[in-house]
Amino acid sequence: MKKAEIIVDRHFLIGDVDKRIFGSFIEHLGRAVYEGIYQPGSPFADTDGMRTDVLELVRELQVPVVRYPGGNFVSGYHWEDGVGPKDLRPARPDPAWQVIETNAFGLNEFVTWAQKADTEVMMAVNLGTRGPEDAKNLLEYCNFESGTYYSDLRKKHGYEKPHHIKLWCLGNEMDGPWQIGHKTAVEYGRTAEETGRMMKMLDPSIETVACGSSNLEMPTFGSWEETVLNLCYDQVDYLSLHQYYGNANGDTADFLASSVGMDQFISSVISICDCVKAKKRTNKQINLSFDEWNVWYHSNDADAKLPKWSKAPHQLEDIYNFEDALLVGSMLITLLRHADRVKIACLAQLVNVIAPIMTSDTGAWRQTIFYPFFYTSRYGRGTVMNTIVEAPVYESRTYGDASYLDSVLIWNQENDELTLFAVNKSLEEDLEISCDLRQFTEYRIVDHKILTHENLKAVNTEDHPLEVTPVSGQNAALDSGKLTALFPKHSWQMIRMCKK
Ligand code: AHR
Repeated sequence: MKKAEIIVDRHFLIGDVDKRIFGSFIEHLGRAVYEGIYQPGSPFADTDGMRTDVLELVRELQVPVVRYPGGNFVSGYHWEDGVGPKDLRPARPDPAWQVIETNAFGLNEFVTWAQKADTEVMMAVNLGTRGPEDAKNLLEYCNFESGTYYSDLRKKHGYEKPHHIKLWCLGNEMDGPWQIGHKTAVEYGRTAEETGRMMKMLDPSIETVACGSSNLEMPTFGSWEETVLNLCYDQVDYLSLHQYYGNANGDTADFLASSVGMDQFISSVISICDCVKAKKRTNKQINLSFDEWNVWYHSNDADAKLPKWSKAPHQLEDIYNFEDALLVGSMLITLLRHADRVKIACLAQLVNVIAPIMTSDTGAWRQTIFYPFFYTSRYGRGTVMNTIVEAPVYESRTYGDASYLDSVLIWNQENDELTLFAVNKSLEEDLEISCDLRQFTEYRIVDHKILTHENLKAVNTEDHPLEVTPVSGQNAALDSGKLTALFPKHSWQMIRMCKK
């Protein structure tokens, strides 16, 4: 049997977890908004047309912030189309996803939904077809108290109090040739600088996120980040990262090693931010917003066959299997291990579109990836400990050496709680782990959850919603300050320990 050791010292800490690392994303895309969070006439809808069954599941996930309204969609969007009386709102073609947008749902409805979901809004502005002026108008509509054209328009629309939106994305994936209004790094860097400047003049309390590369494979990766930051450093607080993974080749060991790629991506972007910081001789540090991450590949073939210009089609509806949940668990561990620099992260997306939550006209259910997110969001809050892991490794096709054990230990000092999240990536063997916790006297195990399944491709569906669900573990002990546990092959684990 394989063995691994986690070495920990209570004085060696990475940093405090910013709860916004458990953010998510709702785009006007497929059935995310329509039939996902909003479906007037549904038996599950409340008086505002919001799906209450979905709201319940979103609240379960404790998502602190949700990015909106895109994504590729935002780069051609006119936010004014989605506010005011519904019968006056125009339907428009959305070139990004080749569908019809009815605009029956817009920013005010989203703010209302966010309040019901106990979450904050992270708003993206259109820097594709529009620019600083429109971003400023949108901010004025959202955050200005009253007595100006756009703030009074908001009041006229029935929203007396400002929305006080704090986090603003300056465009979306502007390096991507597929993006409406795609820009060179210099064009975007200058636009982001001027947009950020004008927005912060209007409301200095906001924070802004500049677009980094759309993924690590972009040919402009690296030079894009450097050029953009050189131009807009003083006007931005975060740089974005986006990355999706898939197992199209059917190589599960390699797929599970994708978190190594994610880890390297994060380290590289930190290096670039700090290189620009050093060159500018400034004390200001740019942190990271990993505002799109997930598994995405199952729905690609179906999406290529979709007829164009329909309304709310079944688009990007990945049905997640058990191995996807393992990788999502690992990606969350990776994000946490970078808690000192990754301050915001958004699981893309939240409902129906590459999402942990699915809906039909008859109900809502949890996909496999719901579970690692649920537990990590609930119990992954506190201080991340800087652990050393001694574990066997395997050679993955794409990412080189990958540890069989992926893990992170969180110390919640307020609650006297220690939580270990771990994934055993071995497809053949169980893993015996040990961890000397004698510095944490009087702790005991209060919860041990395991997510595993004999079939890596097992899925949850509306008819069989509980096929892949966590169970309580029996094989962990904390005796005389030594934690030992047996992690079954291909499993995700959470062990919570509290002071007696
Ligand atoms: O999340 C789906 C899409 O992926 C987003 O619209 C875009 O930003 C990314 O390419």
